[in-house]
Order: sequence, then C-alpha cells, then structure tokens
Amino acid sequence: MITPAPLPAPKITTPEQVTATGVMVCFAVQADKSSEKKYVSIDRIDELETSAKTALAQLIQSGEIEGKSGEIVQVATGHPSAPILVVAGLGKTAQRTRGKILETGAAVIRRLVDKSRAEITFLVGDAISPEHHDALVAGTLTGCEGQHLYQSEPAFFVPEKLAFVGVSPQATAEGETLGSSINLTRRLVNEPPTIMNPTEFAERAKIMASEEGLECEIWDETRLEKEGCRAILAVGRASTSPPRLVILKYNGGGDEAPIAIVGKGVTFDSGGLSIKPSDGMVDMKCDMAGAATVVGAMRAIAQLGLKRNVIGLCGLAENMISGDAYKLGDVIETRSGKTIEILNTDAEGRVVLADTLDVAVQHKPSAIIDLATLTGACMVALGNEVAGLMTNSDDLCRTFSDAAGQENEPVWQLPMFSLYDEKVKSKVADIKNVGEGRWGGAITAAKFLENFVGETPWVHIDIAGPAFADSPKPHRDAGATGVMVRSLVRWVRDRS
Ligand code: BES
Ligand code: MN
Ligand code: ZN
Repeated sequence: MITPAPLPAPKITTPEQVTATGVMVCFAVQADKSSEKKYVSIDRIDELETSAKTALAQLIQSGEIEGKSGEIVQVATGHPSAPILVVAGLGKTAQRTRGKILETGAAVIRRLVDKSRAEITFLVGDAISPEHHDALVAGTLTGCEGQHLYQSEPAFFVPEKLAFVGVSPQATAEGETLGSSINLTRRLVNEPPTIMNPTEFAERAKIMASEEGLECEIWDETRLEKEGCRAILAVGRASTSPPRLVILKYNGGGDEAPIAIVGKGVTFDSGGLSIKPSDGMVDMKCDMAGAATVVGAMRAIAQLGLKRNVIGLCGLAENMISGDAYKLGDVIETRSGKTIEILNTDAEGRVVLADTLDVAVQHKPSAIIDLATLTGACMVALGNEVAGLMTNSDDLCRTFSDAAGQENEPVWQLPMFSLYDEKVKSKVADIKNVGEGRWGGAITAAKFLENFVGETPWVHIDIAGPAFADSPKPHRDAGATGVMVRSLVRWVRDRS
C-alpha cells in the first residue's frame, strides 16, 4: 500500500519587505458604500511593481476584479521572477470575519496546488484585521491538506515556502499551530478505517503527546477490564482490533481544576448486529471525528501554551459483528454503576461515551465538553453544516457558543427539557440506549449521556453533520473538516 505523504509542512516565514519572487497574493476589498469613489481597492498596492499596478488598475476598471468575497483572480504581471499575482476578494468590512479570512487563505492555496510551487508570498495590509492574521495563516495550511492520501499519481502539490509580509511572527506561529492541528484531526479521520483502528489511533495520539510534552495514558483491554469500562469493551468486543481509552493531560494552569474534553472514537461503525445499509456505512470511518478533534485541540492548546489545565479523553472502539458481538437485549453495567439496556447496537457512540465520561468525571473537572458524531437525527434537525449543542449548564452553553461564534463555526442549541428523561428509561435496566422511536433522536442521545456527567457543567456537541463533507468547497476538500478544533481552542483560551 502507498504510504501517504506526511502532514503538509511548508516552510513559513515573515519577511519584512516584499521581494517579487514566486506567486504573489494580494487582497482586494470593497468600500462599504458603493457610492464611494474607490469602490474596489487593492491592499498594499504601492509595494507592487509598476507593471502589476497598471494591470490591476485596468482589471478593476473593466470590472474583472470586483473585490467580492470569494473572488480569486490570477493576473499575469510581466515580471520575470514573479509572473503571477493572485488577487483574493474580501468584500466589505462586515464580510471580513475570522472564518472568511481563514477560508480565503485556504481557497487561494487550493487554486495553486495543481502545480509544484517554490514560494507563495501573501501581502497583508489593513484589509485584514491583525486579530485575524493567524486565521489567514491557518487557512493556508488547511488548504494544503486533502483526502487524496492514496493516489499513486500526485495531482496535488504542497508549496515549499509560504511567506506572510505584514504578519507578526507571533500571529504566524499561532496560525501555523492552529492550521497544522486542524490538519492532524482531518488526517486521523481521512485515513482508512482498517489502518486507523483503536490501537493505531492511540499510537498516533501518543506520538503527538510526546512531541508536545503532554502526559499520555493508554488503557488497553486488560486495563479497561480492571477499570470497569464494560460499556467500551462491549461495543468493541466483536472487533479483531481491541478497544482503547486515551487520556491526554496538559498542565498549564497550576493547581486549578482541569477542563475535560471528551471525544467519541468509534474507528468504524458498521452498526453491529443492528447493521447499517451500505449507504449509511460508507462514510463510517468518520465516526472517530470527535476523538480526532480532541487530539487536534490538545495539540494546539499545548503548542500555544494556554494557561489552563486540560484533560483530553478519547473512547476508542470498532463497532463490528462476530459471534461475540454485543446484542440487543444485553444489559451492561457501566463503569459508573448505572446499568444500560442495549436495544440497538448502532446506538454505540453513547455506550462508549458512558464510560469515557465517567473517567472524565473522576478527574473532578470544572467543565466537560464532549464531541461526537452521535446521531443522524442531528443532521435531520440542523443539516450537515451545523453542530448541535446540548447542555446541563446555561453558562457553559453561552461561553462555548460565544467561542464558536467568534470562530464562525455554526452551533445551535437543542433543548434538554426533563420531559425527555422518561424516553431513555428502561424497563429492565436503569436506562436504554435508544429513545422512543426516531423522534428527537439527537436529544434522547444527549439525555442518555447526561446520566454520566453527574453535577459537572457539561456541553455535548453533536458533530455528525459538519465533521465530514460529501463534496468539496473552494476552501476545503471533501472528507474530514476538522470542525470544532478552533472553537475548542478559543473557548479554552478565553476561559477565565
Ligand atoms: N455514527 C452514527 C451517527 C452518524 C450518522 C454519524 C451519520 C455521522 C453521519 C451513530 O452511531 C448512529 O448510528 N446513530 C443512530 C442512532 C439510532 C440507532 C438511535 C442513528 O443516528 O441512526
Ligand atoms: Mn452507530
Ligand atoms: Zn456511531
């Protein structure tokens, strides 16, 4: 089998002056009122060669460059060492959000990866607010990673060097951290499921931890047994790849209580005996995206040196079928002591999370955030670009939603009225792993999870929709998106 290329790592620099070499990138903006004389203007235009300036002026004049958000125009400069100038439109002030800046960086790179390029230089002026400079850098990195990991003819070329004129070394480093951490998350998800099984996932988490100086504990099946993680073991029992639990610890906050981030890591979800049809199974390598998000976010948090204590937990299992598979009607005593009745083996994520959340609670965290590709119902409710948020804490909901809003990662709260509680009550055990019929499926799943967090303030993010994309967009390939890494980092960073 082909070994996939290592994660993209172009050399990134912050030159003080513009030297016209390789591909140059500049930004076009629109004035907020179309009545203004200079409706379209190019940032840092004075630093460009005269020939390029003339070409740009003509293209603006003729309406070829409008400066609209999302517009990308390639211009021939006539300059021998920098023959191509890319002009990326950013639109009006209100359109220039952090998310859009990131997308613009990514979209520009994705336009240029069809050929091998030695150097791409971004000229960054007033058009992009300094708080968003790191997002631009992050975007250029996410633009370098796609899902084409096993193609024998290279059709995608990561540029060797990226330069950012006008961006501080700190913003550049932070953007590099963010972009490369998102790419790590995406890579873990995009790898085929037989490669990225629980053991391999745990190994990759461990490698990341040793690179970033994090503590890392891996519970194998013997340890899981000893710890009473019978729910994780039940889900993983039919697989030839045994389950794992990964605990990552970052200590940046002295002796304060830690924050716990928890991820569903079902490395492949066949549905088990409640088997999925092929159409529903085809993308189920993505069912460990929550755990991959935890690994990516922990990496970024450590590299940024955030002043918090954070524990990352990944519950890892492969949901398969064999003579030993967990069955409908089975009752499992979870690590917490609560008993669960299994009425659908395809509702396995909540079963894995039951034990994983219990381990999190044992660390006495001040808050728990879990991320899971948990329910198709959440996609029915919100579509495939919006994550569902369910919580037992209005406060935590507000702070997390704020963080996600600042990063332009859409999240929408679904209610957790106590009237839903009875829908997960079991006649045989304490609770059952499905609700009543299909109705409110995202919420009944969250209600199940709520049983395992005790009094700890907790937010559950259902990323079944946004974690994995069917089709590409100008700023990203199809496949894993790395959604919520940025929101998590922002939330940890801003938490006082
Ligand atoms: N991993 C799936 C949810 C999912 C579906 C994620 C589509 C991403 C895309 C989960 O384990 C699952 O199968 N959920 C069931 C629950 C049901 C059996 C109660 C579902 O949503 O159908
Ligand atoms: Mn399932
Ligand atoms: Zn699943």
